[in-house]
Amino acid sequence: MGRYLIAGNWKMNLNQSDSRALAAAIAAQAGDVEADLLVCPPHVYLNQVAAEIAGTPVALGAQNAYHEPSGAFTGETSVAMLADVGCQFAILGHSERRHVMGETDADVNKKLHAVLAGGLTPIVCVGELLAERESGQTDAVIAKQFEGSLAGLTAEDATKIVLAYEPVWAIGTGKVATPDQAEQVHAGLRKLLSDRYNAEIAKSIRLLYGGSVKPDNAAELMSQPNVDGVLVGGASLKAADFLAIAAGASKAS
Ligand code: 13P
Repeated sequence: MGRYLIAGNWKMNLNQSDSRALAAAIAAQAGDVEADLLVCPPHVYLNQVAAEIAGTPVALGAQNAYHEPSGAFTGETSVAMLADVGCQFAILGHSERRHVMGETDADVNKKLHAVLAGGLTPIVCVGELLAERESGQTDAVIAKQFEGSLAGLTAEDATKIVLAYEPVWAIGTGKVATPDQAEQVHAGLRKLLSDRYNAEIAKSIRLLYGGSVKPDNAAELMSQPNVDGVLVGGASLKAADFLAIAAGASKAS
């Protein structure tokens, strides 16, 4: 595992053949990249993408997971099912899950424990709305999401998670956080981790930034001391852009 993780969240985009082609194009170049690469396709394409990236350094992740192990939960996908098709990661509490589907910190927390119990790496997302930033509430919002989403997380399990800071106003808007804005929140997250666990554990947890990451801003974001990678939406749908973003990790380090 290197320092940087470059994760592509494909969201609800692409079709079967596009998903396969994108995965294959990324996998073909993955050996040239120093950073760890992760792709998170829609659930229905996980199997096909898994086949394309098999035997390559590209990891597979899900965009969501349900906390119950099985049963009458129409439309949901369990952690065991995700593991069964080769997922190593699951994104939890993405801003679209929180703000479009109404997921709460308590929901995210249940998912966190289920994902860890199932042996996958959770990528827990936090981030403030524009109005919250403009009214000076960013730190308080992040701290509340941190506490609620990570409730009951032991020190041992804390080393197994990834956190992603995704300011809601920067997602899909082309308005990227400045490297200073990202660093400030990331440093705050590191401190929350350090205060709750210890400095060594805090340092071992990768903190990703997400929100309008592009090839031309990725390196500068990742050159910040507390930015250990990026969670990429729109630009992860083009192999060349995603790989150019990943190449930014080498420039940053
Ligand atoms: P964009 O890169 O499209 O802004 O999306 C960011 C994101 O939500 C990644 O999870």
